[in-house]
Amino acid sequence: MKPQAQPSIHPLWRDAQGRVVMIDQTLLPHQEVHHVCASAEDTARAIETMVVRGAPAIGVAAAMGIALGASQLADAELAEGLAGLYARMARTRPTAVNLFWAIDRMRAAAEAHQGTPGALRDLLDREAQAIFDEDFLANQAMGDHGAALVPDGARILTHCNAGALATAGWGTALGVIRSAVREGKRVHVYADETRPFLQGSRLTAWELMRDEIPVTLLADNAAGHLIASGGIDLAIVGTDRTVLNGDVANKIGTYQVAVLCHRHGIPFYVAAPTSTLDLTLEDGRAIPIEERAADEVRTAMGHPIAPTDVPVYNPSFDVTPAELVSAIITEQGIARAPYARSLPPLAEAGRRARLRA
Ligand code: MRU
Repeated sequence: MKPQAQPSIHPLWRDAQGRVVMIDQTLLPHQEVHHVCASAEDTARAIETMVVRGAPAIGVAAAMGIALGASQLADAELAEGLAGLYARMARTRPTAVNLFWAIDRMRAAAEAHQGTPGALRDLLDREAQAIFDEDFLANQAMGDHGAALVPDGARILTHCNAGALATAGWGTALGVIRSAVREGKRVHVYADETRPFLQGSRLTAWELMRDEIPVTLLADNAAGHLIASGGIDLAIVGTDRTVLNGDVANKIGTYQVAVLCHRHGIPFYVAAPTSTLDLTLEDGRAIPIEERAADEVRTAMGHPIAPTDVPVYNPSFDVTPAELVSAIITEQGIARAPYARSLPPLAEAGRRARLRA
């Protein structure tokens, strides 16, 4: 499979010295700075501090970090050192399953290898690059499937940033929108600002404006009024982990959007590459939900906006029950309820396609 279009935004890559370079997403939209990770530990910290974020992107970053770390280990310490790198990457963030999926792929590639340490390092470089390339292609294929659900003239609500920045460069929810635009459809995107980390206002608004896709920003608590006033035709979001029964973990506030869509009879779609499916979990109750620092809520971009010592509740994700999900769009096709029947064949098709690649 070949990419149909090149990305206009390159969220992360490896430079000539093998370092992991990423757009610093904590500084967007006002500064476009390239953050350079010179070690696996730097890469792990960049994931923890959300210099790079978004489920597929952190999977790619972890894989690249492991490959970089392997290149800095002596031959004699390679096996033990790699085990330490997998464990370190797995401690960075708990919710997005792509992270663990990518670590498992790197581990499986290493364990199957029987050659020299040098050949193993090359193999890990190639596996990390394959994870990156496959994500980009999967996002475009998913975009093509999902674009069929987007009518010409659609007014689309999205939450958080499930765009190029959150992936290898096309986007999941925003990838569907990009593909619809490429097909010639006119769309208008409404982006929730997505407190407290502001992925909607800082990242989604930035990347859509950069691609000249019409976008209007709204405060999260304006979504109900907008939907009730008839201003939205459909919602599309990404996901960090979608499980067997179709329950969907995504950025905190997604559940509220899904409830509003249901109340007003508007389709609520989830764009989920098969790398984001965790069919080992039967329902969403077992999904680990990350809690982040209290200061994310007490402040806005570093400025205090609450009493400095007020207790804070700051879950970073929520779970939208499958009954509120109109369809789950993957790169292998579109799943509808009952998801426990429709998702497994798509996950299997995704697995086989990766083996063939
Ligand atoms: O905390 P973040 O910014 O990493 O959360 C990201 C999201 O919730 C995205 O919607 C999700 O990862 C899908 S991105 C393609």
